Amino acid sequence: MCPPTYFRVTYSINPWMDPAKPVDPALALLQWEDLRDRYRALGHTVEILQPLPGLPDMVFAANGATVVDGRVLGARFANAERTAEAPAHREWFLGRGFAEVHDPVHINEGEGDFVVTASWLLAGRGFRSSPLSHAEAQEFFGRPVIGLELVDPRFYHLDTALAVLSGDDIMYYPEAFSPGSRAVLAHLFPTALTATADDAAALGLNAVSDGLHVLLPAGAGGLFRPLHDRGYEPVGVDMSELHKAGGSVKCCTLELRD
Ligand code: ARG
Repeated sequence: MCPPTYFRVTYSINPWMDPAKPVDPALALLQWEDLRDRYRALGHTVEILQPLPGLPDMVFAANGATVVDGRVLGARFANAERTAEAPAHREWFLGRGFAEVHDPVHINEGEGDFVVTASWLLAGRGFRSSPLSHAEAQEFFGRPVIGLELVDPRFYHLDTALAVLSGDDIMYYPEAFSPGSRAVLAHLFPTALTATADDAAALGLNAVSDGLHVLLPAGAGGLFRPLHDRGYEPVGVDMSELHKAGGSVKCCTLELRD
């Protein structure tokens, strides 16, 4: 995770971002600290990436890389405003002794568009990550990649429209995907939990699960009951300030999967 020290909405690269609507930096920090503390209270280790001035979106650490089995696929950002985040992430991984750190050729925004399930690497395209990055990721990780086309600009990253709950159990918002990708999801995940438009708009799919606890924005109230009924423990967190930049729980969390 990367603290929101320099977090502001100073430019707009997705429909949620309006530089005319101010964020409350102190509240953003409290919300971020609350999320960090909840992970720790659940027994998870949280590593901290140093934030850099001039990179207000760096708090969205999920976009900086994708890590599977200790192999690190670096990011290459679509927008110039975020380009400089990628090397900061790569240096962190190299400094921590990760031996396999790949500097990508094609644009990919890390776990924003790569979602790891037990059997597949789900890969979003349409707004940010290049379709060419899907083949690059498949080759690097040796995992079958399932490409998914995003069609609603509010759900510009795959992790705003789909989350893994455990293994190959997922939840997603069907309307965020093209008809073909929707059919692929229904085929691969016939028992998946599907979200309503309201819960998706609350960024309820931007969730992190450890297989039991599912941390998600508190505003996605409609997801709590179905999650509970499937045997999960939903944990609602208030991420209102981060939401103003189009991000929430998952965006703030890059999973190392140790
Ligand atoms: N403002 C950021 C952007 O548009 C938000 C990134 C959210 N991160 C995510 N993993 N979806 O790039």
